[in-house]
Amino acid sequence: MPPPSDAASVRSRIEVVPTGAALGAELRGVDLRDIDDRDFAVIHRAWINHLVLLFRDQTLDDDALLGFSRRFGALDQAPIQENGRRFVDGYPEIYVVSNVIENGVAIGSLGAGEAVWHTDMSYLEDPPKASMLYALEVPPTGGNTGFSSMYRAYETLPQSLRQRITGLRVKHDGTYNSGGYVRQGITPTDDPVAAPGTFHPLVCTHPDSGRRGLYLGRRRNAYIEGLPLAESEALLDEIWTYATRDELTWYNTWRVGDLVLWDNRCTMHRRDPFDPGARRIMHRTQVKGETRPRA
Ligand code: OGA
Ligand code: MN
Repeated sequence: MPPPSDAASVRSRIEVVPTGAALGAELRGVDLRDIDDRDFAVIHRAWINHLVLLFRDQTLDDDALLGFSRRFGALDQAPIQENGRRFVDGYPEIYVVSNVIENGVAIGSLGAGEAVWHTDMSYLEDPPKASMLYALEVPPTGGNTGFSSMYRAYETLPQSLRQRITGLRVKHDGTYNSGGYVRQGITPTDDPVAAPGTFHPLVCTHPDSGRRGLYLGRRRNAYIEGLPLAESEALLDEIWTYATRDELTWYNTWRVGDLVLWDNRCTMHRRDPFDPGARRIMHRTQVKGETRPRA
């Protein structure tokens, strides 16, 4: 049998470097245009273990981004952007996150402001299991993206609070996106009881890892089923105080060519604002969830 080619052995030599924070690892020695099944198995395992993966120095066109994304399963269509546009021409699965205006039209979503802590599209009954962002242009400063471990959040809740939330369901708001923009076709409301959305268990069990974590979605218009609004607000505020502590988080300071992949079932993320005069362009894909969030 011929010895394995250098290319093959180099390709399989993926290094997993944990961030040292509550979640996240950088994977080195990977060209995402060219991974075999063994590489993918390493990547998948690292993703389940570390929740968020960073791959630096990638050179992906949209086809390559889709090719890597599809390794994880079928993709969702990109959500409609605030301005009514849907996607990159010919690429209905690619969502553009950008503040850039071309010919008076925003080419993407979320502007240049803060994106508050959230889980992607959890206002749906079947939220995506994974999302990934690929950086095409980044501002010189700002616009960092933070991730937070909802396993760790759950595990470090005071025992009494953990007991109080067992069995509860929370409504994930479908009115606003994380940039505070009203979703396409929705009449804005700030009444958490009346707002459109989907109830999911507040504590979910991850289908692959078997670990339990908080499943919060986003704070705005969240509502705990069956509670008087004031009680729901107070309990949510208390939970959110714990769920957004710095020690649960890791931030990526973006470089062009970074691809960040996260597990949308056990993390939340947010983005720092940046100079609206600078340019930031990210292409995002999201992988369909195979199972509904469940307790
Ligand atoms: C997203 C998102 C934040 C960012 O694409 O889902 O929240 O850093 N993006 O652009
Ligand atoms: Mn998001």
